[in-house]
Amino acid sequence: MSQYHIKSLEEYFQVYHKSVREPEIFWEEIAEENFVWKKRWDSIFDWDMKSHKVKWFDGAQLNITENCIDRHLETRGNKTAIIFEPNDPSEKAQHISYRELHRRVCQFANVLKDKGIQKGDRVCIYLPMIPQLATSILACARIGAIHNVVFAGFSANALATRINDSECKMLITSDGSFRGEKVIDLKGIVDEALLSCPTVESVLVAQRTYAKVKMQKGRDFLLQPLLNSAYKDCDPEVMGAEDPLFILYTSGSTGLPKGMLHTAGGYMVYTAYTFKNVFQYQENDIFWCTADIGWITGHSYILYGPLANGATTVMFEGVPSYPDWGRFWHVLEKHKVTQFYTAPTVIRALAKENLSFVEEYDLTSLKVLGTVGEPINEEAWHWYNDNIGQGNAPIVDTWWQTETGGIMISPIPFSTPAIPTFATLPLPGIQPCLMNEQGLEIKGNPANGKLCIKFPWPSMARSIWGNHERFIETYFAPFENKYFTGDGALRDHTGYYRITGRVDDIIIISGHNLGTAPIEDTINEHPAVAESAIVGYPHEIKGNALYAYVILKESGETRNHDNLRNEINQLINEHIGPIAKLEKIQFTNGLPKTRSGKIMRRILRKIACDEVSDLGDTSTLLNPEIVEEIIQQKL
Ligand code: WTA
Repeated sequence: MSQYHIKSLEEYFQVYHKSVREPEIFWEEIAEENFVWKKRWDSIFDWDMKSHKVKWFDGAQLNITENCIDRHLETRGNKTAIIFEPNDPSEKAQHISYRELHRRVCQFANVLKDKGIQKGDRVCIYLPMIPQLATSILACARIGAIHNVVFAGFSANALATRINDSECKMLITSDGSFRGEKVIDLKGIVDEALLSCPTVESVLVAQRTYAKVKMQKGRDFLLQPLLNSAYKDCDPEVMGAEDPLFILYTSGSTGLPKGMLHTAGGYMVYTAYTFKNVFQYQENDIFWCTADIGWITGHSYILYGPLANGATTVMFEGVPSYPDWGRFWHVLEKHKVTQFYTAPTVIRALAKENLSFVEEYDLTSLKVLGTVGEPINEEAWHWYNDNIGQGNAPIVDTWWQTETGGIMISPIPFSTPAIPTFATLPLPGIQPCLMNEQGLEIKGNPANGKLCIKFPWPSMARSIWGNHERFIETYFAPFENKYFTGDGALRDHTGYYRITGRVDDIIIISGHNLGTAPIEDTINEHPAVAESAIVGYPHEIKGNALYAYVILKESGETRNHDNLRNEINQLINEHIGPIAKLEKIQFTNGLPKTRSGKIMRRILRKIACDEVSDLGDTSTLLNPEIVEEIIQQKL
């Protein structure tokens, strides 16, 4: 029986039961077999329930880049580690071997050191999907600096918030980026952000678009000349298993985004293990995850998971629609991709286009398909299965989160019978449960409740950077001794899980998590706005879209509503980024509120979703009459 190449449902259950019965033995075997440790652990795991401090492989020493790069050099030195596929299809793809990756990462690491970066320092990385994004992340890990990657679609304001919260000493960026036909002035955004980031001492600028950019003397440095003169070797820093590896921000339902903190040892073990298991990875497979490395999916399954297995991983700079809607399938055919991992929102957008875009290409290299980020609807699932997998490549609907570090609930391809829209069964080592309104675990099947995890796993986030209290409050206070996911789920009569969506004030738009509070705060900054509330409603492509209810101050009433809508969206664009665009903005005279003044989002959500026949009891509202008015004026 292998923990990895599970061959049947029966074997899955054997492995799963072992992982629950003897978790320490289970994880110890995996950690022992597959990684290089500089020093062995003193204990496998340790969970202090009171303070919610979790440790895995404590006492062990390692460097994750040694596991992701150095140890492959002898046997896989010339093997391609990363295939870089550029935005423009006429530009040649780059095949970066493990040996070449080693050199690039070492040189980058030496540049970081030269600029005064040391173990424990935070480095913000704001780069498009170019090879320097991969090498900068790995260079940080090489010297023990904590990387904080910010998705390069975020605005200056969002970038500054994330830099300041983690007090980054350095920022790595590029002159610009290519996205389809667009050229984006990243350095301009950076310059604006840095006006309010006092901790940043130096900025490294990779050249991608070769646009003319402003360079601030003494602060900004072109990266390439520094790399060219850097020494080609750099010993990996010895890291404790529980030393921080990275911070990655995710939206909270209120306030600042949460800087989820991940540590080296457990994260490495779990991402490597799940990569191999969930995608049934075999030597010489070509793995392509279309996420951006700015999100957890890219961290875990473009970089760390695949590289820890010595795999070949594709990094795609472009977008699915450029130069036409066949681009993904073109790339897939060109590189003979065996595992393809994407988001339901992308599948829905692709499915809307003519099938001829798919039919032009040979997709028979595919063995496994994956989805992540939001619930997949049945129609999209079938389109993916029939037209992309062509019935031969099982779909893994993988449920997990920035906080969980790796995939938690997912079918094992060829073993777990897939049912569309079901993430199915927990991976070995993962113990999910469903909780009822009274805070009790619902035993037996079927069941419907709030999804929690009742036992620690190696890659769980250890804290929220700088705010452990918030970590406990968000994830552990709602249910005693359990990690609360923020998601609702149902479990069918066979024990399969289906994720039904967020049960908190987070809305997932095109697979991106957005908290309602920061968006409302931004709307309220408009001088004509008195108050606002946003909710999600179903959208054909994005999964959800944002519906805003806005009360204007008297001064705003007289102004042209379309202009106001544009101005509000412009603010959103500047403060958060284009992903938070408000699809609909309804101006209203009031918002339904409870007697204690809390906005009843539940009612607003129903109105936005056209479910007005089922509003529930509105009599306890402070202002029940407003409900009818909002319905009458709905967009
Ligand atoms: C949602 C992405 C349904 C869920 C890795 C979760 C999903 C949030 C699925 C985390 C799935 C992720 N089915 N919903 N297969 N995968 N989600 O942090 O609501 O960007 O809580 O991590 O996405 O999003 P995050």
